[in-house]
Amino acid sequence: MNDKFYVGYATVHKLVRTLADRLVASNYDPDLIVAIGSGGFIPARIVKTYINRPIYAVGISYYGIDQKHSDHPQKIQWIDEAQQHLRGKKVLLIDEVDDTRATLSYCVRELLSYGPQEIAVLVLHNKLKQKDDDFPSDIKRYFAGMDIPDVWIKYPWDAEDIDLHEAYERAMLAAREKEAAR
Ligand code: G4P
Ligand code: MG
Repeated sequence: MNDKFYVGYATVHKLVRTLADRLVASNYDPDLIVAIGSGGFIPARIVKTYINRPIYAVGISYYGIDQKHSDHPQKIQWIDEAQQHLRGKKVLLIDEVDDTRATLSYCVRELLSYGPQEIAVLVLHNKLKQKDDDFPSDIKRYFAGMDIPDVWIKYPWDAEDIDLHEAYERAMLAAREKEAAR
């Protein structure tokens, strides 16, 4: 478990709460949330607890519906009548992790083509690494719950044994605390 970064449900919830506080403090009042599935679904639902806005789900993958890997992200699920829902609106785009930024940037560009007023990006974790893509300059607000080195993050919704997962998280945090105190 050493090289992995374990994140439990309560940690996710608390990260979202601080993110929601920062969003409010920045005076951004989104009209709607767009969640990138599947990793963005649970964070988006928790954001809705603090910022009650409708959630639109999108699916983007390197694997098309034919299950063949492509060299760029593709839409596998999208917003019906996106033009009508997005034009002139303030959007909050949510995903769990900003890794290579390829999926996120692709999604931002696609959403921008519908003429929203603004898109803000919110992620639980941002990996500090060389990104494969960058956001267009229209993106002025970017909120990451936590910056993290380029390690594999274990999210609770992927756990088969949630008790073990939470125990790993506690052990990891205790070890880090001990390390920090030395
Ligand atoms: P990015 O724009 O958000 O950086 O996405 P990128 O295309 O680089 O990510 C490819 C996939 O890898 C995404 O999942 C992303 O969630 C997942 N991923 C990247 N780093 C980690 C990590 O440290 N831990 C976990 N658990 N996942 C990671 P996806 O293909 O969209 O699938 P889904 O799991 O969201 O359905
Ligand atoms: Mg994802």
